[in-house]
Formats: sequence, structure tokens, C-alpha cells
Amino acid sequence: MPVPGLEPSLPGPAYLDEDTFTAEREHLFARSWWCAGREEDLPPGPGTYVRTDVAGEQLLVVRGRDGALRAFANVCRHRGAELVDTRDPDAASGCFPGAIRCPYHSWTYALDGTLRATPHLDSVEHAAFGLHRAELDSWAGFLFVRLERGTASLAGELGPIPARVANYPLAELVTAETLHYAVQANWKVLAENFNECYHCGPVHPELCELVPAFRRGGGSGLDWERGIPHRDGAYTFTTTGTTARRPFPGLDTDERERHKGELVYPNLFLSLSCDHVAAFVLHPTSAATTHVECRFLFHPSEVERPGFDPFDAIELWNVVNRQDWAICERVQRGMASRWFDHGWFAPLEDPSVDIRRWWAARMSP
Ligand code: FES
Ligand SMILES: [Fe+2]
Repeated sequence: MPVPGLEPSLPGPAYLDEDTFTAEREHLFARSWWCAGREEDLPPGPGTYVRTDVAGEQLLVVRGRDGALRAFANVCRHRGAELVDTRDPDAASGCFPGAIRCPYHSWTYALDGTLRATPHLDSVEHAAFGLHRAELDSWAGFLFVRLERGTASLAGELGPIPARVANYPLAELVTAETLHYAVQANWKVLAENFNECYHCGPVHPELCELVPAFRRGGGSGLDWERGIPHRDGAYTFTTTGTTARRPFPGLDTDERERHKGELVYPNLFLSLSCDHVAAFVLHPTSAATTHVECRFLFHPSEVERPGFDPFDAIELWNVVNRQDWAICERVQRGMASRWFDHGWFAPLEDPSVDIRRWWAARMSP
């Protein structure tokens, strides 16, 4: 039944059902450019790698002898053994010693994924058994992979986002700290929450002290393109609103004083202050659980300075994050009620409707 002024959210099962989550992996995650970390995670030098999970697939991002990064399935072409043990947390990143050797029968692959050696089997045509590849591209230092070939380029999918944050030296930034959260909520609940500030007044008292505009009018009328102003005397997301760190080089006057945010569908959220960026990478693990990786990015010239301490930013963000995850978990639990068929978006929450449209367009056959 239409309700004037309100838009229905996705139906409850879209957030609750494992069958829907399986369909999302197939139709949405596997076909989207998926943030899989940062280029900085792979140090220079041939053979460095990181293992990452995308839509239930284990991938290896490997730096080749030519310096290029490639994404391979973590699956041997012989009998399917994992090339890197996914049960071993110490093997989540590392360096292959010149080649990738399967531990089972020693089929060995070059760093570009081509099969090079099949011991005692001269008849195997090596060219036919290279490692399976996923597409890989990068933007602003973030790595993106896509399991299934598609027509849209990463640049095409990013649309106007790079232009809006062009002054921030994102590609140069380095991760000084990463917080990990196991959130008992569907990934779309987190995305919808990130996209509206209607909840900021009730949920984030500390943040609203710093950014009074978040409280006014239920967070409506915020000019995210120009950036959100802080209270007088404050200019960054720290507990004091100030910091000893210098602003990023290249920012304009607004960007040195205001805050910006971007949601790179489906799994990267960016929150940009003048001296640091909080980057949230979502890893949906089931319909009702999401692992959130929250990276704190700083300019290398600040990280190298004596006395560098990221704690002022991390402290505030950890408070805000925990408030967000707690309220999202309450949504997830509440939606399981027999009386919940779907929710409603008020005009203040309009950007969250956009996620519904984005999701529906990709999930429909
Ligand atoms: S499964 Fe890898 S060499 Fe046999
Ligand atoms: Fe929030």
C-alpha cells in the first residue's frame, strides 16, 4: 500500500534469507567491482601476494615479475588443491619464492599464472592449464576485483566519485591502523545506515557535538558535495575536532575544514577528513553477518614524522562505529519478527532508497 511521503524498503527476506544471500553472491558480488584491499598491501618485489575472499571465492592477488598485479583463483588446475592454505592465518599474505608451487603434486605456476612445471608428466599441455583469473583494477590505491567478466569498466562504475574527491591524495595514503568488527547484520543494513544521517542525532551524541549539522533537521539538507561543516574551531573527525597532523597537500579551503563521504557500491565506504581517511571495506559472510574492516589512512609524510599517533582519530571512530554496528544489529534482530514485512524510507533517508534501486536492478534476471 503506497504511503504518501514514504518509500518502502526492500522486503524483509532480502536481509534475512540465506537463499537471497546466495543469489546476491552470484548475481551481484561476482559481477561487481569488489574492493579487495589496497595496493600498499603488496610490497614491491615479485611474488608478494594477499589472499582475499570475494563472493565465497578465495583469490590470490599476486605481484608479477613485471610489477603488475593479477588476481587468480586459489585453486590448482590439477586436482583442485588450495595453493595457499585458507586455514592458516599466517598465510593470508606473503611472498612466493619466484613461482607458485602446489603442495600436493608440485604443479608449479609462474607469477603471471601460466603453468610451468608438471613433474613426471611430459604430455600435459601447459598453455591449457594456467590459473583461473579474475579481473583486477585499481583506483585511488584501492584494489578492485571482479570474478565474472563484464562490460562496465571500473572507471565507468565509479562514475562521478573520483572527481568529487580528486584533491585528496588517496593513492599515496598509507594504512596506519585497521580495526576489525564482526557485525551481526546484513551488509545492506550497514550500507543503508551509512547513507543516511537521520539516525545521527539519536545514535551519535559525540559525533553531533563535533558536527552539529548532523543533528539539525534530522540530518537533512547536508551538502556532501561541498562537505559538512564542523562546530566552530573544529576541522577533523577526532575527539577534540583538531589534530597535530597537517592537512593533506592539495586540498581546497572547504576540504581543509569540512568532511566528505562516499559510498562506492557495493562494499567500500569512504569518510574523508582533512588529515585522515576512514575506509570501511565490507566482507559479507552470510545473510546476517558482515565482517567490517576499518582502515585509517594517513599521508606518509605524517606517518614518518616523530611522534605520529593516529589514536585521536581511531578513538572517535571506534565510538561511532560501535554505535552504528549496535543499532544495525538491533535492526537485524527486529526484522526477524513475523510482523515485519518491509521498512520505510522517509525523504530524509532518500540516498538509502538508491541502494534499493541499485540492488534491484542487478538482482532481477
Ligand atoms: S592438486 Fe595441485 S598439483 Fe595436484
Ligand atoms: Fe552512523
